[in-house]
Amino acid sequence: MSIIKLSAIDSTNDFLKDLSRNQSVDNFTAVVAQKQTNGKGQMGATWQSEEGKNLIMSILIKDVLQNSDEIFHLNVAVALSILQVLEDFNIPKLSVKWPNDIMSDHKKICGILIENSFKLDTKIESVVGIGLNVNQRKFDDLPKASSMAVVAENEFDLDLILNKIIFQIKKNCSWILSNQSDKLWQEYHKHLFKINVPMAFEDANHNKFMGIIKGVSTDGRIQVLLEDNSVKNFGIREFQILF
Ligand code: BTN
Repeated sequence: MSIIKLSAIDSTNDFLKDLSRNQSVDNFTAVVAQKQTNGKGQMGATWQSEEGKNLIMSILIKDVLQNSDEIFHLNVAVALSILQVLEDFNIPKLSVKWPNDIMSDHKKICGILIENSFKLDTKIESVVGIGLNVNQRKFDDLPKASSMAVVAENEFDLDLILNKIIFQIKKNCSWILSNQSDKLWQEYHKHLFKINVPMAFEDANHNKFMGIIKGVSTDGRIQVLLEDNSVKNFGIREFQILF
């Protein structure tokens, strides 16, 4: 297993994508940085992180997904890996907010950005970026963000967390490889934020509505039971939970 440690970089995801474009990179190679100057979040957002306090990492995963129908299996495997590692550190009230934010109670403590590329030989290569808030204690303009240190009132060792995450991701990927991703999905659903709870939502046109999250389909869309008893699936840009 190789780990590349950097003091500063624009984005660990971009660094790892470039590296793998230019040379052969071993499966599960990880890149960590103390600081990112252009950290990327979901849907074009930026990812902010206090220098040296948090885990900023990307990991290359190849030869796990067999075809594009399986893309969301990797989101499930990775989100669950983080949750399982955080359980080990006794982080309270953990859940996965669809598609793959890791929450402690109602605060986000980790974000995941997976960038997939489809190779000519139909192989899929994924760069999995993880921003885990570990020892940062102030989140001035981010009222819904928190960290392991804040919620568990403790300091944590970044290297130890890094090694556990890589180990757990490898383990969960082996479930995909042995065609047993249903086990990962069961766990993912067990920990899905607000599953089976009546909630208010907002669609892409800012219309508010009530519904109940029933699960996530294998293509990664969230399934919501609406007031007229129909079930509607939403994609990532079409829906947000109001909480
Ligand atoms: C999100 O918006 O929730 C996803 C955040 C992902 C941030 C991580 S930090 C390491 C990696 N490099 C990036 O540029 N982004 C991801």
